[in-house]
Amino acid sequence: MAALLRLALCCVLAIVARATDDPVAVAIGHAKAHPQGDVPASFVAADYRGDLRDLPIGVFDSGVGGLTVLEALKAHDRHDNLTGKEGADGVPDFAGERFVYFGDQANMPYGNYSAVGRTDFLRELILRDVLFLLGRRYAHGRKPPVKAIVIACNTATAYGLEDIRAAVKAWGLPVIVVGVVEAGAQGLAESAGGAQGGVAVLATVGTCASNAYPKALAKVTARPVRQLGSATLAAAIEGDPSVTTPIRDIIRADVGGFLKSAAADGAAPIDTLMLGCTHYPLVADEIAAAFAYWREQSAADGRKPYAALVAKELKQVNPAAWTAEALWRSLQGARMMAVTSSSAGDQFYLSVPNPAWPGVGLAADGSLSYEYKYGRQPNQVGRQDTLNVPMTPEKLPGATANLVREKLPLTWRSLRAAR
Ligand code: DGL
Repeated sequence: MAALLRLALCCVLAIVARATDDPVAVAIGHAKAHPQGDVPASFVAADYRGDLRDLPIGVFDSGVGGLTVLEALKAHDRHDNLTGKEGADGVPDFAGERFVYFGDQANMPYGNYSAVGRTDFLRELILRDVLFLLGRRYAHGRKPPVKAIVIACNTATAYGLEDIRAAVKAWGLPVIVVGVVEAGAQGLAESAGGAQGGVAVLATVGTCASNAYPKALAKVTARPVRQLGSATLAAAIEGDPSVTTPIRDIIRADVGGFLKSAAADGAAPIDTLMLGCTHYPLVADEIAAAFAYWREQSAADGRKPYAALVAKELKQVNPAAWTAEALWRSLQGARMMAVTSSSAGDQFYLSVPNPAWPGVGLAADGSLSYEYKYGRQPNQVGRQDTLNVPMTPEKLPGATANLVREKLPLTWRSLRAAR
């Protein structure tokens, strides 16, 4: 009888999802229809009925950029670990926690889906990331479920935060969900340090198109905000072989174009940069250098057209540390910090193309072809054209691995230990 009822419920959910054709409804229905977590993009419902405190924290991004957020989580020390009171105690606030990191590298850049009218598909990808973290399966084995989801991707936060919250609620899970955009806006408000000028939000084209930052910033400051969306910088940092322009040149050209249009519009002088893409903290020095370069450039008449537009001292805001604080507050508030210190370390996964999936389109280097990647339609949440496999330092392109090793030492150590 119970089995019959469950079958009937599954049919109703499937019909409702198909009727609405909304990727969120489809993903919600799909996972509800598979409470044993026995198919891709599902989780074991029973995992979320007990005590979740000792489960790991899930962190995801479209690629390796979210490792900058993981680094901030691992370094975060703003509280006394015994009393919970404000004030660093020399012990990281998440010292007792472990993390499961996922980078959806095969499907990135997320930032370019909106430009080709595929935001619904992007929303489905984002929910698949969440289902991967909640579930127990990776391509070749088992992984632990998670008690919290950190959306360590600005684009995914912009397009997916509300969907994720709605899905988690519909699934009835007491899972914490934290995104980077509001945390970043909060960070700007808390760390202004006297800066009162214009804010330049550096992000993906998609994040800019969503207007997530201008909206979040408007809640905490009246300062003027302008956006600089880059179509290639995140992919270049990720080591995408189709991007052949050196990172420094991409940044210089992006910033030059941005300042040209800002000057033409008579924009307010800029004194703060919001690093609104998780990849960008890895090239923060190059970004500062590009603004400094253009500030000093002279036109034919000897005038420096951008000198008054760019402050000499530019403040950079990285949302990562404020994301860590938002997570800490949520876990504390829900009494969900780990109680048993675990000897198991962090786990790292990334997606790779699955050449065996019918109709999959591959480029010469084995990555998903551009036409295939950006031509897909939603409502096939269980598709397996990509597989999630363990991330190892060897799987990262050399230049990207070097960036992680140099700039993210805590994460690098953890990634190496996870092998
Ligand atoms: N990491 C993503 C972000 O923070 C950008 C990379 C991408 O376009 O996939 O927006």
